[in-house]
Amino acid sequence: MNVRVIFGSSEDMRELPDKSVHLVLTSPPYFNAPFDFPGLFSSYEEYLSLLKRVGSEVARVLRPGRAACFVTQDVRIGGRLYPIVADIIKLMEDVGLRYQERIIWKKPDGYVRISRRSGALVRRPYPMYFYPDNVYEEILVFRKPGRFERSKVPPEVRERSRVELEAFQRGKWYLSVWEITNVLPSERWSKYTAVFPEELAERVVRLYSYAEELVLDPFLGTGTTCVVASRLGRKCVGYEVDLELMEAIRERLPGAELIERGDARRLRSKLREEIERRLRRTSSGASLS
Ligand SMILES: C[S@@+](CC[C@H](N)C(=O)[O-])C[C@H]1O[C@@H](n2cnc3c(N)ncnc32)[C@H](O)[C@@H]1O
Repeated sequence: MNVRVIFGSSEDMRELPDKSVHLVLTSPPYFNAPFDFPGLFSSYEEYLSLLKRVGSEVARVLRPGRAACFVTQDVRIGGRLYPIVADIIKLMEDVGLRYQERIIWKKPDGYVRISRRSGALVRRPYPMYFYPDNVYEEILVFRKPGRFERSKVPPEVRERSRVELEAFQRGKWYLSVWEITNVLPSERWSKYTAVFPEELAERVVRLYSYAEELVLDPFLGTGTTCVVASRLGRKCVGYEVDLELMEAIRERLPGAELIERGDARRLRSKLREEIERRLRRTSSGASLS
């Protein structure tokens, strides 16, 4: 299997030479989201500066003309909505990538992972009690300036990478809104982190990379990007800072080369304790939103 996972921070991707990656697909941590990463960052500024350092590394390792896709959404904490999407666009432009597409990943209508905010208006059906339930995330697509070297793709590889028009039409991949069912909280890997669906990764990998090319996920989580990339005949490298995800990654990516760097940390147990502490507080009256 052609997969390498480096346990360490993707602020430093020294293992990857300049211009060696053909596609980046990732979902960064959702700032200090109460049910995923409570208290992980000491401030929003610290969070943005991490994203900027990772973005600079992404811009360095990506080949000219190639795409970097970020799956993300604004995060609401304590009543404040943090504009993560707008800030990522600005940061990636600052590090030299060009903003190219915004695809909405629409989840099923019944999906509400955290709270049914719209209930406020049902309880008080009057103006100023409107709080919509959030059912989407965004896939931000950036390109590194320069020309994609079409002529370097061997004809046989090009044919093997042909996008199946049947799936393209049937799944409405051609729209800027993709309706894809999210990974349910009851599903196996979602107990570790906010996992994105394999269907989403499959569309991105098929649409933005050729067989045998190298896909990078700098925030690998449980490894969805590499699972899909290797199934589709691509090579994959992932960075994950949390050593406590090693067991899940080893199970999802048997045979992957695992490298442990000195800057890897142990995060999950602490995050889970914090989530449970906050839930206990919520059930005694405080709000988590
Ligand atoms: C939203 S999750 C990614 C989930 C992934 N797409 C999946 O399907 O499992 C973000 C991940 O980034 C990791 N992370 C946070 N800071 C990091 C850093 N500096 N370097 C590498 N990984 C980091 C977190 O531990 C978390 O697993």
